Amino acid sequence: MTVKNEVLHILEENKGKNISGQELANILCVSRTAIWKAIKSLQQEGYLINAASNKGYSLSYTSDVISSEGIRLFLCEKFKNIPISVYKSLSSTNTEAKAEIIQKGIHGTVVISEEQTNGRGRFGRKFFSPPNTGIYMSIILKPNLNISNSVLITTAAAVAVCLAIDKFTEKKPQIKWVNDIYIENKKICGILTEAVTDFESGTIDSIVIGIGLNVKTENKTFPNELQEIAGSILQDNDNFAIRNKLTAEIINNVLSTCEKLEEKKFLKIYKERSMILGENIFYKKNNKWIEGYAQDIDENGGLIVSQNDGQQIILKSGEVSIRKTK
Ligand code: BTN
Repeated sequence: MTVKNEVLHILEENKGKNISGQELANILCVSRTAIWKAIKSLQQEGYLINAASNKGYSLSYTSDVISSEGIRLFLCEKFKNIPISVYKSLSSTNTEAKAEIIQKGIHGTVVISEEQTNGRGRFGRKFFSPPNTGIYMSIILKPNLNISNSVLITTAAAVAVCLAIDKFTEKKPQIKWVNDIYIENKKICGILTEAVTDFESGTIDSIVIGIGLNVKTENKTFPNELQEIAGSILQDNDNFAIRNKLTAEIINNVLSTCEKLEEKKFLKIYKERSMILGENIFYKKNNKWIEGYAQDIDENGGLIVSQNDGQQIILKSGEVSIRKTK
């Protein structure tokens, strides 16, 4: 670890408290000049560090820069040492995670960026990823799974995100099948799960779960076509710094759920959070929207739909739209 990373670790651990330059220098066995340089560099990176001549340095409670030091503090013991890379800007964290898989990215590796210049969504769409206001992350899983279970991972990830939001806010997020998360009818999170197959055996080598969350993106920042449908977890004038702990809690939830995926316990919460069950919906088939009734979620995360002719079908992937019932 560099002096800068070590200083950041101590400041994050003592958020809101003052620590003198001398104290930091003593703990890290370096000069006060080295501490001063580290502080200056962190301030330039956007960390809100107050410096008072007779009190020392303190990281403001409102400082909200994502860092592996800030995230690690909130990871449970079991996952404390997972590899985490945080970038200022990337084209797409999923693309970067897939590149890391080739370089032997291990199970639990996390790639995060403060901004994505080409954030990818489902069905080849773009995911709007402006700097410093969201969480854009990809988690690499190397599970022993067959394909049907890998579909369940997406479902589990949606529940993992909802429970993490529950923990730090008063909001009650809901899930639109398969994996869009809404608060007050605005989409605040999308999940893109991609499988990397082993060319020789044809089996799934790794899965990348890409999670994009609008945490405090101001409504006016969204492109016009998104302003009606996209939202953020926090309101425009909320000034809470929750991105590190929210990221950590999502990682905790995803990694622990994946260890016991077979138990499928998360499906109960998934159904309770569903915003479409019991509703008339439209689903896409051969590029046409077909009407149906969202009956249930099956044990593999498939959506059971009753068609107008009384027959039932199970959707295993795709997209649905909610029809307003009169
Ligand atoms: C969707 O809503 O269609 C899915 C959006 C998924 C966006 C996330 S952000 C982190 C990861 N990297 C990407 O390029 N996409 C996913």
